[in-house]
This record gives sequence, structure tokens and C-alpha cells, in this order.
Amino acid sequence: MKFTLNIWRQKGPGEKGRFVTYEAGDVSSGMSFLEMLDSVNQGLIAKGEEPVAFEQDCREGICGSCSLVINGIPHGPDRGITTCQLYMRRFPDGAVIRIEPWRARAFPIIKDLVVDRRALDRVMQAGGYISVNTGGAVDGNVLLVSKDQAETAMDAASCIGCGACVAACKNASAMLFVAAKVSHLALLPQGKPERTRRVRAMLEAMDREGFGSCGNHR
Ligand code: SF4
Ligand code: FES
Repeated sequence: MKFTLNIWRQKGPGEKGRFVTYEAGDVSSGMSFLEMLDSVNQGLIAKGEEPVAFEQDCREGICGSCSLVINGIPHGPDRGITTCQLYMRRFPDGAVIRIEPWRARAFPIIKDLVVDRRALDRVMQAGGYISVNTGGAVDGNVLLVSKDQAETAMDAASCIGCGACVAACKNASAMLFVAAKVSHLALLPQGKPERTRRVRAMLEAMDREGFGSCGNHR
């Protein structure tokens, strides 16, 4: 397969960025999107050109690092997966693909497709923790959690902090992220003592970091 890629290139935070067109040839349908970018970068390096900077780590859909807006959709056209789990067979041979970084005031661009997402860490620092008293370990059965509550807390805990919801939101709100963290902790007994303070602290941090408000639009 072969593809035409329009990739956002930007040398640094204060620099003017632009789309640059690259041809990706010899792509197999079983390649992941990031492997396809790896091969484009190998070609650029071989020609003595600067490779495209993009973020990745686990390549297993669990770390949330791989932050690309593909054809206008954060993480690309498939639902419920991250960019590293997207495969080239999802695109028709010869397709033109536009690749951009997350776009949000709270996520300034560091280089090319890499953005600074530490604002989410600071929102977590503001309230996404629990207080643990030191001393002997508490018996497991002292803190009973019903199966339903444990399951719902686990659903909320599946937020990997990738920031795609911010990139997808027209207001660049981090409300989905905050709601996932608040729900996860509030549903468990360990998180109950701080639950009221947590919501206020995280929402205030969200505003401070420059995320937009949730407009609840469809
Ligand atoms: S809620 Fe947002 S930050 Fe969390 S996994 Fe979903 S898109 Fe990523
Ligand atoms: S690289 Fe870890 S989720 Fe994609």
C-alpha cells in the first residue's frame, strides 16, 4: 500500500508550523500507524532530513502517549482505541491522510506532533489522590467494596489520561478526564474522605490550566 501524508511540522513551541507532504510507500496492511510513521522517519533519516517527532511508549494501548489527530479525529477513525492500535488496513490504498498534534491551549506544542500534557498531571496533583494513614496494613475485608461499585470504579479507572477528549472537545475541556478521576476515587471507600474537596480542587486546576468549559454539546 502507499499513502500521501500531510503532517504538521513545527520546529519548536514559539515557531510557526505548517503541513508538509510525504509519500509513504511499501506499507503493509498489517503495519500499525506508528510503524508506518517509523518507516517514513527511517526514509527521512536516510536522506539526512529531520524525522517527524511524535510521542509513543507502550504501543499496547495502555499508556496514552501516542497522541495524534488523524484526519481530524483524535486517535483516528476507529472507536475505543489509541493511535498505536490503529492499523493501516483501516485506510484505503492510496489514501491521503492528515496528521496533526492535539490542539488545545492547555497542550502547547513542543515539536511537530508532540504536545506538553503536563497540565493533566497538575489537575491530578490538585485533587486526584487519597490520604493514607501510616501504620499496620489494614485487613482487606475491613474495606468492603461491592462488586457493582468495584466494576464501576474500574470502568472510570480505564481513563489512561491520553487527553484525546480535550483534543476532541470544541471547547478543549478536560471534563471527561476530571469526571473519570473523580468517579474512580469517589466510588471507593479509600477516596471518600476527600471527595468534595477533590471536585472543587480539580475543577479550579482545570480552569487555571486553560482548559475550556464543558458545553455538553453533541
Ligand atoms: S477520558 Fe479523556 S484522557 Fe481519559 S482515556 Fe478517555 S480520552 Fe483519554
Ligand atoms: S503508545 Fe501507549 S497507548 Fe499508544
